[in-house]
Amino acid sequence: MLSTCSLDSFCGLCEKRRSIRYFDTTPVSREDINEVIEAARLAPSVENTQPWRFHVVLHKGLLEQLTRTACYGNFIAGASAFILVTCDQRMTPSTGETLWNPRELEFSCVAAMEHLVLAATAKGLGSCWVSLHHGPAHDILKLPTHETVIGGIMLGHPRKGEEEPSGPHERRPLSGVVTFHE
Ligand SMILES: Cc1cc2nc3c(=O)[nH]c(=O)nc-3n(C[C@H](O)[C@H](O)[C@H](O)COP(=O)(O)O)c2cc1C
Repeated sequence: MLSTCSLDSFCGLCEKRRSIRYFDTTPVSREDINEVIEAARLAPSVENTQPWRFHVVLHKGLLEQLTRTACYGNFIAGASAFILVTCDQRMTPSTGETLWNPRELEFSCVAAMEHLVLAATAKGLGSCWVSLHHGPAHDILKLPTHETVIGGIMLGHPRKGEEEPSGPHERRPLSGVVTFHE
């Protein structure tokens, strides 16, 4: 249904993307990882502050430790790569403009995370957004105090059997989420 909207390739990509939680053991190449991060770097951010930082975790021991910081499920160790996204809270608008809502730094990082999952889909990779208990994840990667944890994206080649959604996937109809104010 979505793929009939005007920018056909983009709508098709949105329709194709869904959370993949189980992966095979084929590693994701550094080139692919850099390409999905390149797409994330192009996300919009409040006053173009670009507060996102990407911590690419490939080390199996760290992946296992991070699994214990997941709020829901215990999938992280099965990913080929995990991109933990943090927000550099020191960023301010280069224009000198006041940052009226500092939380918008974090909203900007969320926009970058959406670019990550769409770019992963475009490259034929599986991905899943993972909620993290921020403090423990921060400690495991020994992150600086000015970076706060936003969340993480698992990346990998989908395992056989992942053709079907492994979590809730149905959407509310447009009529249930849109209000026109005319
Ligand atoms: C902010 C956010 C946090 C999420 N956290 C988790 C998570 O911790 N574990 C998980 O398996 N999926 C997580 N997801 C994925 C959602 O469960 C998933 O997007 C939703 O069920 C819709 O399914 P779909 O991605 O297949 O379309 C998260 C998604 C978002 C946007």
